[in-house]
Formats: sequence, C-alpha cells, structure tokens
Amino acid sequence: MLILSIETSCDETSASVIENGDTIKSNIVASQINSHKRFGGVVPEIASRHHVEYITLIIEEAMKEAKVTFEDLDAVAVTEGPGLVGALLVGVNAAKAIAFAHDLPLIPVNHLAGHIYANQLIEPLEFPSLALVVSGGHTELVYMKEHGAFEIIGETRDDAAGEAYDKIGRVLGVPYPGGKYIDEMAQLGEDTFNFPRAMIHEDNYDFSFSGLKSAFINTVHNAKQKGEELNHNDLATSFQYAVVDVLIDKTIRAAKEYPVKQIILAGGVAANSGLREGLSKAVEEQLENVCLVIPPLSLTGDNAAMIGAAAFLELEKNHTANLALNAQPGLTL
Ligand code: KG4
Ligand code: ZN
Repeated sequence: MLILSIETSCDETSASVIENGDTIKSNIVASQINSHKRFGGVVPEIASRHHVEYITLIIEEAMKEAKVTFEDLDAVAVTEGPGLVGALLVGVNAAKAIAFAHDLPLIPVNHLAGHIYANQLIEPLEFPSLALVVSGGHTELVYMKEHGAFEIIGETRDDAAGEAYDKIGRVLGVPYPGGKYIDEMAQLGEDTFNFPRAMIHEDNYDFSFSGLKSAFINTVHNAKQKGEELNHNDLATSFQYAVVDVLIDKTIRAAKEYPVKQIILAGGVAANSGLREGLSKAVEEQLENVCLVIPPLSLTGDNAAMIGAAAFLELEKNHTANLALNAQPGLTL
C-alpha cells in the first residue's frame, strides 16, 4: 500500500511516499525558514507563496526518490489543518488535483495526529497510549485508547512550549525559531535562576508558560537596567529546566493515573535534548511496564512522512474525502 502524502501547514513544503503506514520510501522537506528569519516569525503570505513555488517540485522529488509513478500509488494524503489557511490550501489543492487526475482516494489528515503517528515509523503504537504533543503552536497531553481515538486530558492555557522558547530566544538575540539555539546554550550552562514551574502542583494536566516567559524577560530587563551582565547559557539552562520539569512531571502523573502501555513524544519540541533525556530517565525510574517512543530528530519537525503514517489508518477505515475538501486552519484533534 503506497501513499503519497503532502504537508504545507506552516513553513515547510514537504512530500513523502510511505509504504504500509510504517516504511519511509522518501521524505522531502524544503524549509523556508531563511525567508522568515528576518521578520522574527513566519509571515503567512510569504509562506503561501513559497509553497506555491515549490510544491510541484517537492512532490516530483519525493516520487523520484521513492522510484514510483502515480500509477503505483494507492492514495494521496494531505494535512487539512490546523495551520495557516493560505499555506494549507496549497497542499490541499495539490492533493485534490492529483486525486482527481489519477482517480485516487483522497485522505485528509490532522497535523497533530501526524506528529503523534510519526512514531509509528519507529515502532508500532501500543494502546492505551499517552502522547505528549509539544510544538510551536500546541502543548497537549493526549490519551489514546485505540488508533485514531484522541482524548485531550491537558493542554496549555496560554503559550505553547515551542512558542515560549521562540519568544525568549528573541530576548537573547538568537535566530528564529529559537528553540534549537536555546537548547544548545542550555547544555552549556547551569540552573542558577530558579524560574517558576507554573501549575506543577495543580491537580490537572494543563500547562502555562506565559508566567515563565515574563519572569525570564523581567530578569533580563532588570539586569540590563542595573548594568549587570547575566550569563546567557545559565539563563537558557534555567529556562529549559523550568519548561521540561513541568512537561515531565505532568506526563508521568498522567501515565500513573491512566492505564497506559506506551508514552509517545511528538512535535517540534520533541527535538529538545533536556526533554528527551529527562523523560527517558523519568519513565525508566518511575513507571513499570510502560515503554517510551521518541522520534528521531528527522521526524520531530514538520514533515510529510508523519502525514502518510497517520493516513494509512484512515484509509483502512475508509475515511476519505471528496473534492470539496477544504483547509481547516482551526482543526482540533
Ligand atoms: O512541530 P513544529 O516543527 O511546528 C509546529 O507545528 O509548530 O515545531 C516547531 C517548534 C518551534 O517553536 C521550535 O523552536 C521548536 O519546535 N523546537 C525546539 C527545538 N527544536 C525545535 N524547542 C526546543 N528545543 C529544541 N531542540
Ligand atoms: Zn508541527
């Protein structure tokens, strides 16, 4: 079963060919980040224009690398949301055109389900499962009793974890998106600032990162006013511990309350070294008979392979769309 999948929800134009939902034949990702960097964030109009320019090329490259033709395909899948509407529309229209021209089933995929199912490209998902989805736009704890059954048991009340990284990255003057750079600096410093771990003791699975962000910004501004030099690596380390401690604490608590067999890490922030190490250690030390799946760095950020992995199960259930399919920027799990 061969699926061509397309992902254009934000600033990556990506196409992939996936076999049987778990084998990557190709996964081409074209990042536009250099075009957005100087604006300090993703500019939706620029994103759409780049997708339009590259989509055909990227699809051709994915097909070529997988050594398949349109006649070999069993379906075409695409991210329908959430994301930037103009960006999503480019992928949705490309997928519809291919489905129509080659008479293929069209499978709409939720971007967040894609992040979760990226892990199926590493090993089979086991249920019940708990996914920690941490990206630039989302921070969610998702309980899954079975394939495709997503129950959000906790989420951020304000900023997403990746968003907080990017905002404090701007304060420390690293390029956008700052997550990767702050993570690198965090590995060189020490936890000397003791930033707040918001909501860590509250009896729920929700998160909040805006207070931490403000505490960070105030610390930097106050020092500047007094003419003090703060160690940027120590600031990054202290920030990283504050984010990661809460993410890990709540994930472990949920895994103790819900009968989970597997914990899944998903989304761009799953690339974070502190989170990967800390969660591995916490699962090993505090949970019995629960395995942890962490995607390789190539599958943490946005890519079409994860969309193909999620689409395989949708196709098995005959969850296909017709050519009236539209982008859904505010889609939830
Ligand atoms: O999933 P993703 O590629 O796009 C969205 O769907 O949002 O996630 C991007 C987010 C950005 O906020 C980026 O700064 C963050 O993931 N990120 C990281 C790291 N690598 C990427 N955050 C912390 N540490 C990292 N190593
Ligand atoms: Zn994403």
